Amino acid sequence: MLLNPLNGRLRQHDGFPVLPGGFPLIGHLPAIVTALPHLLRCAEREVGDHFWLDFGPGGLALTCVHPDAFTLFKNKVTTSQLIEEVAPEIMMGSLVAQDGDLHRQVRSAMNGAFIPKGLAAAEIGPLFASIIEKRVAQWVARRSIPLLEETRDLMLSLVFRLMGIDASDVPQWRKKYGTFLQLIIAPRIAWPGTPLWRGRRARAWIDTQLRGFISDARAQADSRGLLSLLVRSFDESDDPLADANLIANLRLLILAGHDTTASTMAWILIELARRPAIWAALTEEALRMGAVPTTPSELGSYPIAEALFRETLRYHPATTMTPRKALADFELAGRAIAANTRLCIPIIHLSRHAQIYERSDEFLPERWLGRKEPIRPPDMLQFGAGPHVCIGYHLVWMELVQFSVAVALTLRKAGLRPQIVGNIDKGIRYYPTAHPTSRLQIRFA
Ligand code: HEM
Repeated sequence: MLLNPLNGRLRQHDGFPVLPGGFPLIGHLPAIVTALPHLLRCAEREVGDHFWLDFGPGGLALTCVHPDAFTLFKNKVTTSQLIEEVAPEIMMGSLVAQDGDLHRQVRSAMNGAFIPKGLAAAEIGPLFASIIEKRVAQWVARRSIPLLEETRDLMLSLVFRLMGIDASDVPQWRKKYGTFLQLIIAPRIAWPGTPLWRGRRARAWIDTQLRGFISDARAQADSRGLLSLLVRSFDESDDPLADANLIANLRLLILAGHDTTASTMAWILIELARRPAIWAALTEEALRMGAVPTTPSELGSYPIAEALFRETLRYHPATTMTPRKALADFELAGRAIAANTRLCIPIIHLSRHAQIYERSDEFLPERWLGRKEPIRPPDMLQFGAGPHVCIGYHLVWMELVQFSVAVALTLRKAGLRPQIVGNIDKGIRYYPTAHPTSRLQIRFA
């Protein structure tokens, strides 16, 4: 693990241990980026349930690896505003970093479009099914694809279609978002050529495009799509929000809507390639159903594809951590937390916690099959919970079931199977976003 061998001393900060091994300026970031699950488990074993992680430019965050950390999502004495402090260049002005009335106003402007009824009314299902099927057919014809690059391009295309945006240069957007994301871990040096400078230029490029889309949407008052809906509900609200706020939220929606899902999509293909029994069960289900589902209400007829989606996300959560800040003193897992403490919810650790999931270290899609009880909040903790629970949950569920079924049908018809080219265990990244190595290829053979 990438820890500083010269920093082995355990020191205390505000009554909690600071994990040893941090580097000057960049803290534990090298280990967070490349080995987060291992880092958290070692820390739990060596220093206990509560410890400070050093996010370098993002500062220290008290990380609680006890299952009670899940309660932070609904805790009324914590705020999400820390997200803006930790990643001001990325999250400033977006709903994920806001609380109370401002959050409610923006969230309610968006909510309708993302619930199953909204998705069905906007006919997102048939639209996405046809784009996914076409893209999977192209991949299969190529026989081999760079996995992450392709899933990101596909997801960006879907997000733009969801928004009703006609974005022609998707690979350019993918590159700009990649550079923009580096702003989370970029050292605070803005000289030309540094990651901070390049990230800001990428953000300026993204914002210029978004401004253009917004003015197009205003010019065509009758246009459809999520973007027009958002522009209208922002413009018509009792307390109209500034364009800067609209842009910040659109930037976040495009980021949240493509990066996380592309990573999960990539992991689904990897798991299908390395687990023949799951591949057999999925293809059997897909052939029996005969087509890709096109509405949220049909998803229940694809239990294997749904189980694959849930287990892939549990095993490889696309959002690994999220911050909060204490507004007042409170207790967490038996320890007193003081007001103003910066906290980290380690989603990736909870996602494989033995007290939350049985046989938590095993990849077992069957855990989701034949359940009598409905999905409860801890079952989908990979999407958060409480007021900030992921707005895209129903959309992702549909997209990833559609994707799995499209892959199974297309490959089965061609008599092919996915195969991995490259080392899966090398190059996995956990922060700022989580994904398998970008060097991995998938071959259809
Ligand atoms: C596998 C895919 C996804 C995962 C794992 C995921 C995960 C999450 C998590 C954990 C949160 C809560 C963050 C917090 O409480 O601090 C969140 C919030 C959010 N997600 Fe997702 N997400 C996914 C896909 C999407 C998609 C497809 C969209 C939209 C197109 C989206 C839009 C959002 C938005 C706007 C928020 C902020 C909601 C609020 O603050 O009220 N996400 N997501």
